[in-house]
Amino acid sequence: MDDELIRRAETYARELFASDAGGHDFGHTMRVYRTAMLLADSEPGCDRTVTALAALLHDADDYKLFHTENNANARRFLAENGVPAETAERVIAAVNAVSFSRNAGRRPDTPEGCIVQDADRLDALGAVGIARTFAFGGEHDRPMSESVQHFYDKLLRLRELMNTPAAAALAEERHAFLEAFLAQYYKETGEERP
Ligand code: ADP
Ligand code: NI
Repeated sequence: MDDELIRRAETYARELFASDAGGHDFGHTMRVYRTAMLLADSEPGCDRTVTALAALLHDADDYKLFHTENNANARRFLAENGVPAETAERVIAAVNAVSFSRNAGRRPDTPEGCIVQDADRLDALGAVGIARTFAFGGEHDRPMSESVQHFYDKLLRLRELMNTPAAAALAEERHAFLEAFLAQYYKETGEERP
């Protein structure tokens, strides 16, 4: 793997997400990158460079944050840094396979897409996932109860949707933490669990 290229992609992501205090800060991208590299260790069929670049660029053209078309930010980074066109296309394909809504729930058809999607979903679970959910709710002026509803709408379903066995194992612990959080939340609020 070209370490210098990966460092440059980290620097690019740091610049892109510099101003975001919500669920898409630079920390999210770095956690997805580190988790993706961990998952890659258990998926010998994947290309580590494609996986790393796709993880670091996976939110670089998120429509909620940037008004780009056709992955313009990611493509520009890859072109300016001399990534061969064939590799760049594999990175873009993996990035575009991550979003659940954009792919109508279809499983990514490459190992790199599977890994980055798993890493992104794992970051929505566990202690970090809880913190991101309430940060997102606050950022959008939503009452706390709506963030709690998001657990049922999305977060508690993610455990079943992991692509790789390594991610499924990590998801178990993080899912259990969500359940423990909810149990304590209802204990403290006296609200009825739906
Ligand atoms: P990503 O693109 O990284 O998968 P999303 O944009 O879907 O993430 O969400 C970013 C974070 O905000 C996640 O942790 C997610 O759980 C949280 N989030 C998304 N939608 C909602 C919502 N309606 N209420 C509360 N939290 C949300
Ligand atoms: Ni993400």
